Amino acid sequence: MKPSFGRVGVLYGGSSAERDVSLMSGAGVCKALREQGVDAHLFDTGVRSLAELADERFDRVFIALHGRYGEDGTIQGALELLHIPYTGSGPLASCLAMDKIATKRVWLHHGLPTPRFATLDCNADPRGLADDLGLPLIIKPPHEGSTLGVMRVDVVDQLAPAHALACRFDDQVLAEQFIRGRELTVPILGAGAGTRALPVIEIVAPQGNYDYEHKYVSNETQYHCPADLDPALTRQVQTLSEEAYRVLGCEGWGRADIMLDDQNRPWLLEMNTSPGMTGHSLVPMGAKAAGMSYGRLCVEILATARCKVRAPAGH
Ligand SMILES: Nc1ncnc2c1ncn2[C@@H]1O[C@H](COP(=O)(O)OP(=O)(O)O)[C@@H](O)[C@H]1O
Ligand SMILES: [Mg+2]
Repeated sequence: MKPSFGRVGVLYGGSSAERDVSLMSGAGVCKALREQGVDAHLFDTGVRSLAELADERFDRVFIALHGRYGEDGTIQGALELLHIPYTGSGPLASCLAMDKIATKRVWLHHGLPTPRFATLDCNADPRGLADDLGLPLIIKPPHEGSTLGVMRVDVVDQLAPAHALACRFDDQVLAEQFIRGRELTVPILGAGAGTRALPVIEIVAPQGNYDYEHKYVSNETQYHCPADLDPALTRQVQTLSEEAYRVLGCEGWGRADIMLDDQNRPWLLEMNTSPGMTGHSLVPMGAKAAGMSYGRLCVEILATARCKVRAPAGH
């Protein structure tokens, strides 16, 4: 039976630093939905207005936007006001997950492991950071994605340039203990008690350097899915990812980024609430390992679209 979702918008593009990735995500999602019999239409929020979005009279939308204004709760809030059901997390969870510092505070509150960290304003002196956290450490802008502005600091002299780089993107920086080990990412679907992690993916980048170039440009990065972890560790990493997602209030779908240290202890780095959906992206890779095609994944995510803010009684 063909799914009946009415007229569906695929929001893509947008105006964040991750626009180019989103253009690919949206094109892939829209094509796949059409192949599944869905009446899907692309809508670029970077060039078209909210008034035009309202005029489109979509019955629901698939958010294939990444980064600011697309993944951070703002478009989600606008869709609530327009009463258009949308995929993924609501305004609060989206906004929380977009802020790596707020996310870590929530995880710590719930006793979930995340690397030790410090925050620093852009007009402050970064030289003391290594005293608390030791070296190496990693400095990142708390609201950016795609590894933009992220720099590893091995020696004290690199603190000032790393701080300056992160400050090109944000007013405050996050300095985090560097975790040596293996890099994992875990796609997650569902909500509440129905939350379920897909197979774990291990990312093996040349020299352990998983930056923008290695994410989107070069083909030297290797991905192993399912990751070569024993079943108990796999389950531990999946359960941790599900908890990390639930305590942030995420729903629909997401992807947790994790470092596994040399004693096989997992450390949560961040939660992505609107991850990449290109043909080479990681959520589709995890779905495939679970026996779910790209097209079915898109339909499954679309099926969970809803408005999350409860209208007051009588409306
Ligand atoms: N604490 C850390 N220890 C080791 N590597 C890290 C750490 N934080 C980030 N990284 C590396 O930097 C990359 C980007 O960091 P992440 O926190 O996932 O931000 P984003 O993907 O939003 O840019 C990660 O994929 C990982 O390779
Ligand atoms: Mg990441």
